[in-house]
Amino acid sequence: METKLWIVDNYVDKNEKYPQITQAAQLLKEGEVVAFPTETVYGLGADATCDRAVEKIFKAKGRPSDNPLIVHIAEREQLQALVGQISQKAEVLMDRFWPGPLTLIFKKKEGLSKLVTAGLDTVAVRMPDHPVAHSLIKESGLPIAAPSANTSGKPSPTLADHVKRDLYGKIAGIVDGGETGVGLESTVVDCTESIPVILRPGGITKEQLEETIGEVKIDAALQNEKEAPKSPGMKYTHYAPAASLTLVKGHPSFIQEQINQSKEKGLQVGVLTTEENQSFYQADHIETVGTAAHLETVAAKLYEALRNFDDQNVDVIFGEVFPEVGIGQAIMNRLMKAAGHRIIEE
Ligand code: TXA
Ligand code: MG
Repeated sequence: METKLWIVDNYVDKNEKYPQITQAAQLLKEGEVVAFPTETVYGLGADATCDRAVEKIFKAKGRPSDNPLIVHIAEREQLQALVGQISQKAEVLMDRFWPGPLTLIFKKKEGLSKLVTAGLDTVAVRMPDHPVAHSLIKESGLPIAAPSANTSGKPSPTLADHVKRDLYGKIAGIVDGGETGVGLESTVVDCTESIPVILRPGGITKEQLEETIGEVKIDAALQNEKEAPKSPGMKYTHYAPAASLTLVKGHPSFIQEQINQSKEKGLQVGVLTTEENQSFYQADHIETVGTAAHLETVAAKLYEALRNFDDQNVDVIFGEVFPEVGIGQAIMNRLMKAAGHRIIEE
């Protein structure tokens, strides 16, 4: 199919109309799927009330049908039509973090396509903090179901070019609003329990949540691979680069030893490192992701780096680890998945 491409400045003014966004919103109203930027990663949107439209998302991504989608809204008023009871803690979280990279799970109301919630009695809702996403959702006048706009199993897209590579010819359009901000997906928090539970770490940290509402739990599956996750999407292997990634906890000289051993076996070796450490390594390909002194910079570049390895002829990749504080929790969650939980300690 023909994929339309619209380029918009990511400095869109919420109160103005842009022909690119109006055209994209029109396609959403017609039941087509359109990719658009959010402050986390690019999303692949469709009318969340329409089976035929939502089905196209699953088809384009090759996404398993038992993995539910997040419903994106532009205004708080849209929430009432989607969800049942809203707890006090959920209200406080929305006041503080919406619009922003926080997805909340509520008991659902009727009216959404059943495909969105994959048979669950709950629904995930988020209000993105990106002017293009905001304007697009608002102009469509619809709740927009949107997973990340990648082929299932690939890293989420942080540039329109990533979306193009995965989905060109398979979707009706792509709104290019430049690079996304956070670079990792939203934090998913189940608000149906009296103590809210983090199902997926992301842009809003556990520390920020606890500052706001007190105790927050972490889904057992995030700490123990053997537990079944409450968020269906967390059970799938994700973000995996083509070459096998192994994380290494230790000094760069220890990581270099691993590289050398692989080189002796005749393998092409890649390294995933940070600005401060990159000059330590000798390898066939080096990808640098920001600085460990500011973990936000690592989050912003992580998926792009994982994708870049796929364009290189490397057989194996060794990657540094990061402290699991703040956004570091989300970074290590995604890295551990990308590495299939392979980690070597010095
Ligand atoms: O930042 C983000 O959240 C991006 C942007 C596009 O908004 N979206 C995103 O969507 O990451 P997706 O589909 O790639 O991930 C949604 C996650 C999955 O792990 C899914 O299983 C979980 O949210 N989820 C959705 N509905 C749920 C529900 N009712 N209960 C538990 N988990 C749910
Ligand atoms: Mg995804």
